Amino acid sequence: MLLEVRDLHVEFATRDGVVKAVNGVSYDVDAGETLAVLGESGSGKSVTAQAIMGILDMPPGRIPSGEILFEGQDLLRMKEDRRRKVRGAQIAMIFQDALSSLNPVLTVGQQLGEMFTVHQGMSQKDARAKAVDLMERVRIPAAKERVRQYPHQFSGGMRQRIMIAMALALEPKLIIADEPTTALDVTVQAQVMDLLAELQREYHMGLILITHDLGVVADVADKIAVMYAGRIVETAPVHEIYKAPAHPYTEGLLQSIPRLDQKGRELYAIKGLPPNLLHIPDGCSFNPRCPRARERCLHDDPPLYEVSPTRASACHYWKETLDASR
Ligand SMILES: Nc1ncnc2c1ncn2[C@@H]1O[C@H](COP(=O)(O)OP(=O)(O)OP(=O)(O)O)[C@@H](O)[C@H]1O
Ligand code: SF4
Ligand SMILES: [Mg+2]
Repeated sequence: MLLEVRDLHVEFATRDGVVKAVNGVSYDVDAGETLAVLGESGSGKSVTAQAIMGILDMPPGRIPSGEILFEGQDLLRMKEDRRRKVRGAQIAMIFQDALSSLNPVLTVGQQLGEMFTVHQGMSQKDARAKAVDLMERVRIPAAKERVRQYPHQFSGGMRQRIMIAMALALEPKLIIADEPTTALDVTVQAQVMDLLAELQREYHMGLILITHDLGVVADVADKIAVMYAGRIVETAPVHEIYKAPAHPYTEGLLQSIPRLDQKGRELYAIKGLPPNLLHIPDGCSFNPRCPRARERCLHDDPPLYEVSPTRASACHYWKETLDASR
């Protein structure tokens, strides 16, 4: 296995108390595989990714327990210099906002080239050629000319391609893309997503795709982990989850995707708000919003039940949920 996150906990010390942002998350992704991580705002998707990348704000952040195994070695317990090497060259991250991730006063060629001069000791000339090559790979037209331009001279979609090129530069084994297309127009979103999926296959990388949009992952992901209040509530192969969700929260997410065949039908929205992470409800953390909740759910916190060898759900009544959509 390329990456295994095991029972990860992350908390933040704030003036109001301890925010439990990640509460025992486990997921894994193999080479050539795409894991989509899904969930509403504040469910801990980014914080988990930041822990993997080693870019958490510590303090106020703290990792009280857990393991992050990269090719079997725990990044959280690795010697600093080795850890930096792994994270610098073998894991790359793509963020939502390319404009604030790129340096406005350097040309894109300089920024792409720096990946090679700094990390691989390449000459300026060779690095420039590699930069053009990368821009062509992410299908930026007229790469030879545009390599001299500055980030603001590119459209949002083209800038996001540059971010993908930066991430690919050192041929990492794992890419974490955190809402890579959220800031883009819908049509451009699909193009960038397709490109990312294609490059992931070509390079046989692991990809963790973080999104709150179930609609975009159907075609690109192999499996899905759904997060709620800092936990995984359901994991499953992508086609199975679309056919029949095994957790009421996933069920709600699926019902809130716009569908072409149901134009005009009112979109279902999951009622209520995600919990305050300073005071996560007793029992099942989803109980205040769950249409299937009953007495047991108020005090008995569901474990992640095995639904099948490849599926799990943190709902006492997963079978009922599964049967409902069959
Ligand atoms: N530096 C920090 N200090 C305090 N709390 C933080 C900090 N960073 C994140 N949090 C909290 O951790 C929780 C999880 O945040 P996270 O960014 O992982 O959510 P997310 O699932 O990525 O949401 P979104 O879809 O909005 O990006 C949130 O409640 C957030 O307020
Ligand atoms: S355990 Fe209860 S509250 Fe939680 S998701 Fe299942 S039915 Fe809903
Ligand atoms: Mg986020």
